[in-house]
Amino acid sequence: MTDQSQDTAKLSIRGEDYEFPIYSGTIGPDVVDIGKLYGKTGLFTYDPGYTSTGSCESSITYIDGEKGELLYRGFPIDQLASKSHFLEVAYLLLYGELPTAEQLDDFEARVTNHTMLHDQMSYFFRGFRRDAHPMAIVCGAMGAMSAFYHDSTDISDAWQREVATIRMIAKMPTIVAWAYKYSIGQPFVYPNNSLDYASNFLNMCFSVPTTDYPIDPILSRAMDRIFTLHADHEQNASTSTVRLASSSGANPFACIAAGVACLWGPAHGGANEACLSMLRQIGTADRIPEFIARAKDKDDPFRLMGFGHRVYKNFDPRAKVMKESADEVLGLLGIENNPTLQVAKELEKIALEDEYFVEKKLYPNVDFYSGIILDAMGFPTSMFTPIFALARTVGWISQWKEMLEDPKARIGRPRQLYTGATHRDYVEVENR
Ligand code: SDX
Repeated sequence: MTDQSQDTAKLSIRGEDYEFPIYSGTIGPDVVDIGKLYGKTGLFTYDPGYTSTGSCESSITYIDGEKGELLYRGFPIDQLASKSHFLEVAYLLLYGELPTAEQLDDFEARVTNHTMLHDQMSYFFRGFRRDAHPMAIVCGAMGAMSAFYHDSTDISDAWQREVATIRMIAKMPTIVAWAYKYSIGQPFVYPNNSLDYASNFLNMCFSVPTTDYPIDPILSRAMDRIFTLHADHEQNASTSTVRLASSSGANPFACIAAGVACLWGPAHGGANEACLSMLRQIGTADRIPEFIARAKDKDDPFRLMGFGHRVYKNFDPRAKVMKESADEVLGLLGIENNPTLQVAKELEKIALEDEYFVEKKLYPNVDFYSGIILDAMGFPTSMFTPIFALARTVGWISQWKEMLEDPKARIGRPRQLYTGATHRDYVEVENR
């Protein structure tokens, strides 16, 4: 796509005129290719936080922040959330098309038959303190997979890339579930190949050897939908981390572990945990104005967790689906009067009528309602981000795969605006 420039951008710098090609995608903003800017002008671009920078060409996920639109390979997220299921969405993200029945059966069989971890890895888990945050364990275990699966670390081999892909998608639920079990002092539960992906995860989290664990179809459907809503999201911080790590040729497990580490931050995937803690801190609707005031106070670092987004400036389509799911799941579980859900709904209503949030275009994002559902399902807040990481593993791998299959891909190496000391000579300590 980016070899067919129909238009150019003209730039005048200190009396010199320069032209740079403009490329158009299928939908969304055009881009100006400034790859030759430094060579032609001796200047770098400057865009901290990458608010106006496209880092790559991709055909996986499209977001329209103004329309509140999210497409996975062209299919709207609300259609996939209601009509598809996570492993079918995973196939779509990885290979670009919805699978035939035969392709889907084969893909699901390959994932299902690789859910077990190398048994030596169970000892790896036991090296952590019991009170370690599950994200620390998940990050470590994913990176440690490069110490156990040496036969799928050569990224130049398409077959090894495919094997690593299936292994990570298949084993991430086991890693996340075992991190949870380890943190609560319960024995690991092995995967059960007779269960679907979401049900298998719930079973590994909540079943114990002493009693049967009946899988509630409401919960497994809600879990599967949460996975779909979190699967991919264009070039967000953790996906960009995975791409940058992959650009050096690092092995797939190390690159995905880097994505897990980045996702952990409260400004990114850690927001779901922070949001539920915030809702609980608010406690009752009458305290909402106090927290709204704090969120608006420039001298207070407090931010309304689960609100705002770099791209969405009207609404996050995932938040809409998640809110509907929260109503459905809590209603079916008979806890529709959940106080935290009531506070969340009142907080959303008040914030969306407040001029500060309207002017800054701050709306609930994917993390605002997800924690309420996960809490109702029985997960502690510390498990919210690991579940986000479980789902986003499919998106990270899809983007990693796309980048490695791009013949134009090269190592990522940004430059800087240097404002430090100019050249100076060393001074002996006795002369300082
Ligand atoms: C995810 O990128 C992705 O796609 C991420 C994600 C994905 O699927 O991968 O969608 C997942 O990370 C969702 C976001 C989860 N994070 C939170 O809910 C944390 C709270 N939100 C913010 O910290 C913030 O909104 C960000 C990080 C999400 C976006 O930050 P930006 O785009 O850099 O915006 P900003 O920090 O420059 O804020 C713009 C203005 C600022 O005020 P001014 O300096 O202009 O006066 O809005 C204010 C901010 O102070 N603001 C908020 C706010 N978010 C932004 N004020 C109060 N509460 C908030 N939540």
